Amino acid sequence: MHRILITGAAGAIGNVLREGLRGRYPVVRVTDRAALGPAQKGEEVVEGLDLADLAGLEAAMKDVDAVVHLAGTPVEQPWEPILANNIIGLHNTYEAARRQGVKRIVFASSNHTIGFHPRGRHIDETVPPRPDGRYGVSKVFGEAMGRLYADKHGMEIINLRIGSFQPKPKNVRMLNTWLSHRDCVHLVDVCLRAAGIHFEIIYGVSANSRNKWHDSLAARIGYRPQDNAEEYAAEILVAMQPEDEPLTERLFHGGEYCAMEFDGDLAKIG
Ligand SMILES: NC(=O)c1ccc[n+]([C@@H]2O[C@H](COP(=O)([O-])OP(=O)(O)OC[C@H]3O[C@@H](n4cnc5c(N)ncnc54)[C@H](O)[C@@H]3O)[C@@H](O)[C@H]2O)c1
Repeated sequence: MHRILITGAAGAIGNVLREGLRGRYPVVRVTDRAALGPAQKGEEVVEGLDLADLAGLEAAMKDVDAVVHLAGTPVEQPWEPILANNIIGLHNTYEAARRQGVKRIVFASSNHTIGFHPRGRHIDETVPPRPDGRYGVSKVFGEAMGRLYADKHGMEIINLRIGSFQPKPKNVRMLNTWLSHRDCVHLVDVCLRAAGIHFEIIYGVSANSRNKWHDSLAARIGYRPQDNAEEYAAEILVAMQPEDEPLTERLFHGGEYCAMEFDGDLAKIG
């Protein structure tokens, strides 16, 4: 990989990846619709580019080998921003990449694609999607777009089902789902370098003792997370016990996203 492009580089994960991947690739191009600051050594900056702008995206992808696609609405929101950023913007990103001959896309998907799977069960990358909101549905759409562009156009796609990207875990659920900053940088780095990729799903979590998400790709591509949320368990459990989580949250992998706007029947969700 000579030149990589990070979309959404002004955001929380984008900033950490921009810093962490700088110097590991000859050129790191960063883009966002928000301000990005001046280009550092080894960087190219494309500022003020919205995912709505297909021609602009195509220009930003010229001579790019791989895209790390982070830009989008990162939480549950009304339909309008999700439609604009995660559906239309996602399509524009894939289409611009195809037109420019980009080989690989590493897509920031989410655990909210599988949120309504019962938390009592360990799950892997083969379980059917069970999104827990409009945001989760948009990430399922993103993964499906990747499937299409891999099968139909031969692009190499890795979907990162990111857990909880935080400096440290903040609550009981994050003892399962935490992804530390340094593990995130390492994960994206191995995803960019891995050989033999067609269409893959990998869970973005640290080496948490309570992790319940497993996939076959992590070991295959050499993902070796160093951090474990368990180091923070004592301080978290002083403030909150697992049974303090409301039932509609603690029953499911998606946690509080499952409880948002919930008016379903818990007894029917197997
Ligand atoms: N933070 C997490 O724990 C987490 C978990 C799962 C998945 N993700 C995914 O990772 C990605 C990055 O998340 P984050 O926490 O850094 O979010 P963030 O909001 O901090 O960053 C997102 C960036 O995307 C940009 N953006 C949004 N819409 C855009 C558009 N239409 N055109 C151009 N730029 C646009 C924003 O300006 C922002 O800088 C998102 O796709 C999110 O869904 C994050």
